[in-house]
Amino acid sequence: MAKILSKELKFGPYKVLGKAIATGGMAQVYKVENVDGEVFVAKTLLPQYLSDRRKKSRFLAEFDYLQKINSEIVVKPKEIIQEKGVCCLILEYIDGIELTKVIKKLAPLDTESSVHIILELCKALDECHEKGIFHRDLKPENILISKDGKVRLIDLGVVRHVETKRTLPGTVLGTLDYMAPEQIEGERKDVKNTVDLYALGIILYELFTKKLPIKFTSKDGIIDVYKKKKEKLPKIGKLENIDLEKICLELIQADPTERIQSVFDLEERLLKVTNKTKIKKGYKLFLEKYSETFYKASPLTKSKTIQTKKVEVVIQKEILVENQEENKTLFVVIGFLFLLSIFIIGGHFLKWWSLVDVFIYLKALVMNIK
Ligand SMILES: Nc1ncnc2c1ncn2[C@@H]1O[C@H](COP(=O)(O)OP(=O)(O)OP(=O)(O)O)[C@@H](O)[C@H]1O
Ligand SMILES: [Mg+2]
Repeated sequence: MAKILSKELKFGPYKVLGKAIATGGMAQVYKVENVDGEVFVAKTLLPQYLSDRRKKSRFLAEFDYLQKINSEIVVKPKEIIQEKGVCCLILEYIDGIELTKVIKKLAPLDTESSVHIILELCKALDECHEKGIFHRDLKPENILISKDGKVRLIDLGVVRHVETKRTLPGTVLGTLDYMAPEQIEGERKDVKNTVDLYALGIILYELFTKKLPIKFTSKDGIIDVYKKKKEKLPKIGKLENIDLEKICLELIQADPTERIQSVFDLEERLLKVTNKTKIKKGYKLFLEKYSETFYKASPLTKSKTIQTKKVEVVIQKEILVENQEENKTLFVVIGFLFLLSIFIIGGHFLKWWSLVDVFIYLKALVMNIK
């Protein structure tokens, strides 16, 4: 889907750096660079959807949502590139790790860091919800922790997620983990801010325990998942802070009216049962562990990775140049043979020589060479 223009892979003026970072149901994400060497991300609509007007406009809607939000936590939009064969959103590049990977390697997190991450997300969601924007796809894959420890929220390609991922067999389970039951049911009137609060509850539970509160097997169909979500919830039972456990479980209530009703309320509740100074200290300690795990010898690793990416691109370019050189030689040889045969056949018709004579002459020439 990237275009090959004068030896480089490009989306409009943006040069593609290496292979796609991620491929989802609708889009592919690439790291790209503008003419000034600034790095961004290009989220490109998969080619099979380019002619689907409905999907395309939903895809582009993410850009409008992002433009409406000022929060530092939410990824910043740059521009839309639409040209033949390409439809992509250029977004700020966040140099960091998906929360999924952080959970896999470092969870259970200490209570302070878990609360800090949720509080940061609350800040972003506060503004989103106030503007009538419900994320609807909150999950650790869509939360990044930047190298400098900032919590960042991405992927506002919302409504289509609910629709597409519900109908794709085999891909539903991962996403359903964070989906509120009413969202699975598809009752649109119920799909509001409380679905994001539900997802926050699941994420908080996962941060605290490394586990998901409701487990599904690969045999579970969507109805089974829905039923399990409606069942009585397990207790965490490990936390010293019983109030935190209460908050977490209140967020994942099956009935949306029994949940904490707004991110503002959630922030207040969390701050009441924790200590701001302790949160700050706890998160600082977590960051040390985080950078130790993901960025050992941090500055060197950084420049090396960037260099490797660039080398990859240079190599790609060289292969293209080499291929072009080979193609050039082949082109010249074919061109020469083509002109020679026109000359010989033309000469025959103009009675300069007969084709039979030419054939005898060529045969003799070949025999002599041998
Ligand atoms: N701005 C960004 N900076 C760095 N990495 C990003 C950025 N945006 C996306 N990514 C990476 O690409 C992955 C996929 O991006 P995103 O979640 O936006 O699309 P998606 O889930 O594939 O979308 P869809 O579900 O519509 O197919 C993210 O999980 C993240 O790892
Ligand atoms: Mg995503």
